[in-house]
Amino acid sequence: MKAAAAIAFLAFVILQMAPAPYQLSSAPLDPRAAISADPDIPYHIQSVLRRACMDCHSQETRVPWYGRVAPASWLLAKDVTEARLVMDLSHWGDRPAAGRLALSSAACAAVKESKMPKPQYRMMHPEARLSPQDIEALCGWPKAVLASIARQKSLSAASR
Ligand code: HEC
Repeated sequence: MKAAAAIAFLAFVILQMAPAPYQLSSAPLDPRAAISADPDIPYHIQSVLRRACMDCHSQETRVPWYGRVAPASWLLAKDVTEARLVMDLSHWGDRPAAGRLALSSAACAAVKESKMPKPQYRMMHPEARLSPQDIEALCGWPKAVLASIARQKSLSAASR
């Protein structure tokens, strides 16, 4: 019994030194490109995104203690890397209008189908379990993007 425990402990220690197949990166950011800097996305939508999405879909990932221990750290880094590829809310402002509209619509569909946030994340993060009101708020996101596009258009027309 003691030997088995020792071997398990040794395996665990070796795992911590193994090269990680995925690692979380962090690059310098432009705060003006973050979705939090978009004045057309109202607070109730921003707050759902922050609570339930931005750990994966932004550069502002809060890593829990178990997220620093292999192999959980690898799974976390893989999820976050893939999530940032499809939608990085820290680079929201860098997206063209059509992309912002497509993403916000896909987000509404994904939460309605309970595909997002991911089930394993919901299990560990009670604050990310969305109520019908949260889902309704998030589904107002495409409309906010449309309003933002219209406002930017009229601004650029006025400056011409
Ligand atoms: C635990 C990490 C995690 C969280 C939290 C999370 N996502 Fe994702 N999301 C992913 C990953 C990984 C992908 C890409 C692979 C896939 O679709 O499974 C993805 C893909 C997506 C996509 C594109 C694919 C599709 O279904 O159309 C959308 C839109 C999306 N997420 C929206 C959201 C929204 C909105 C939230 C918050 C309510 C959220 N996600 C929370 C990890 C996450």
